[in-house]
Amino acid sequence: MDLNLQNKVIVVTGGTDGLGRALVARLAQCGAQVATGGRHAQRRESLSTEVPNALVCDVDLLEPDQRAAFVDAVMSRWGHIDALVNNAGKSAAMSVAESSDQQWREDYELKVIAATDLIRRFLPVLRDGGSIMNIVATAGKAPRAGSTPTSASRAAGLALTKALAGELAPRGIRVNALVIGLIESGQWERRAAASNMTTQEFMDMAATAMEVPLGRFGRLDEFADVATFLLSERASYITGAAINLDGGLSPVL
Ligand SMILES: NC(=O)c1ccc[n+]([C@@H]2O[C@H](COP(=O)([O-])OP(=O)(O)OC[C@H]3O[C@@H](n4cnc5c(N)ncnc54)[C@H](OP(=O)(O)O)[C@@H]3O)[C@@H](O)[C@H]2O)c1
Repeated sequence: MDLNLQNKVIVVTGGTDGLGRALVARLAQCGAQVATGGRHAQRRESLSTEVPNALVCDVDLLEPDQRAAFVDAVMSRWGHIDALVNNAGKSAAMSVAESSDQQWREDYELKVIAATDLIRRFLPVLRDGGSIMNIVATAGKAPRAGSTPTSASRAAGLALTKALAGELAPRGIRVNALVIGLIESGQWERRAAASNMTTQEFMDMAATAMEVPLGRFGRLDEFADVATFLLSERASYITGAAINLDGGLSPVL
């Protein structure tokens, strides 16, 4: 199956680690031109070594000025984009009673405001027929106890996806959400290390505790497969969809 991604310009936020990094590498293998960024220099350098052609920017997406500079850097290199993937994020799951306004603001700023700001800034140069993909979490569809503020910001991401799909359909731009359950990534490696466990031991424990129907975490290549397909013209009739990639974890469709 030809995905026809050669020379497509694709922006992936949070592409220096975990899911985003796997997607950047896969898109580059498919011949796409990829831009990404992050805050940690070591992660940026490591990605630049693995994917030398990628534009890897020093950016904290919580900062509006840095978001603007990131967009400018992409524009200087290519002048247009074919797709935007809003992937940058971090876990923020706690009980309402334990959470603070500051934690809610920061979570919303990164997962909703920054994503929406980037969409708005890139829209004039996003080619007709292109696509936007928002990476969200199953908690946005099916919030469990102790899952805020992430579950609320992810529900907002789902609403944003659906509204935007209608707004951009006249330009042939598809907008979808990929709804993640539990997938191996940098954040899980760090949690495992903090618990003095191997990443595999930690993931096995979490998959059992969360009762994932398929009984395991997803792999990065499984994420890259679905995300790359959704970005390609092979998915040309899919828009306004929120596709679960979760081994059956979500109790709702
Ligand atoms: N993996 C899962 O099981 C899972 C489940 C549900 C949802 N998700 C979502 O999927 C996305 C990717 O998660 P992941 O597991 O791959 O996480 P990860 O391994 O921690 O990677 C997160 C990426 O986002 C970047 N990032 C975080 N905050 C940023 C900021 N303020 N400005 C710029 N970049 C920032 C990180 O780079 P720096 O830290 O260097 O800035 C890194 O490149 C996230 O939105 C996450 O919430 C993941």
